Amino acid sequence: MRRDIELAYLGIAVPDPTALTAFFGETIGLAPGEPAGDDTLTWRNDDAAHRLLVQTGPECDAAFIGFEAADEVAFDATAARLRTAGFELSEGSDADLRARRVERLVRTISPWGVSAELVSGLAKAASPYVSPLMPAGFVTDGVGFGHAVFATTAFEESAAFLVDGLGFAQSDWIVFEIAEGIELEVRFYHCNRRHHSVALAKAPFELPQALHHVMFESNSADDVGAAFDRAWATDLAIPNGLGRHDNDRMFSFYVASPAGFMVEVGHGARVVTDDWDDNRQYDRVSMWGHQPLRQAAS
Ligand SMILES: [Fe+2]
Repeated sequence: MRRDIELAYLGIAVPDPTALTAFFGETIGLAPGEPAGDDTLTWRNDDAAHRLLVQTGPECDAAFIGFEAADEVAFDATAARLRTAGFELSEGSDADLRARRVERLVRTISPWGVSAELVSGLAKAASPYVSPLMPAGFVTDGVGFGHAVFATTAFEESAAFLVDGLGFAQSDWIVFEIAEGIELEVRFYHCNRRHHSVALAKAPFELPQALHHVMFESNSADDVGAAFDRAWATDLAIPNGLGRHDNDRMFSFYVASPAGFMVEVGHGARVVTDDWDDNRQYDRVSMWGHQPLRQAAS
């Protein structure tokens, strides 16, 4: 399976980064990452220096997303492809390289409105990943830290950015009725064995948040269950209880973060292979489960 790029990190902006510390650290069970400068708090789910960077900002949304090239050749080829597809790239500064802990960085604004950074050489943390809450660790080797799903009204432009620009391929898509008479389309894209590193939801109108959810894939179904118990013990909304998705077969649940976007904790998704011939439409999100369990406390 070719593997030119993988999801390196996700940047989130919230008015108070410490407001997400209990959520990421104690509910999801991520490990603290290394300092990234200023008041940015970072989190990790493997040996990389950081995978989530939570910075100060008014948005309560994704601020940037990083795609790590597998090597220098992949970096140059991906940058060239982005430029050929019409996306202007600006060079990251030395301060950017230090903050992101990478060797190279170019960036552009994605059509869904979030800064997209192509990087290489994401630093390893000084210590190995350890989380007593998620002891089995996460699936990241060669597939990036997880996946992110964005809602956008610029649906076709965003798809072109992923496919023509970054070199993703579509895995499959879902069209389902989200409410009576209202259909939602979601397309799923891979850039390595992970079924999707990015998915796009076709927003019917501009939504307050581009980031719908970010997913972390545990090596253990039991760790997912324990994370569900921790989420249940909070008063956070649980928009989707335990279930299994139809297209990527992920066993997972979704909990709403205090910032509004959701976090999916999953296990056991199927992987994309070189001979993938299952790029087809699904008409349901889940084989079973993923029921709406609990609304936010009002
Ligand atoms: Fe997901």
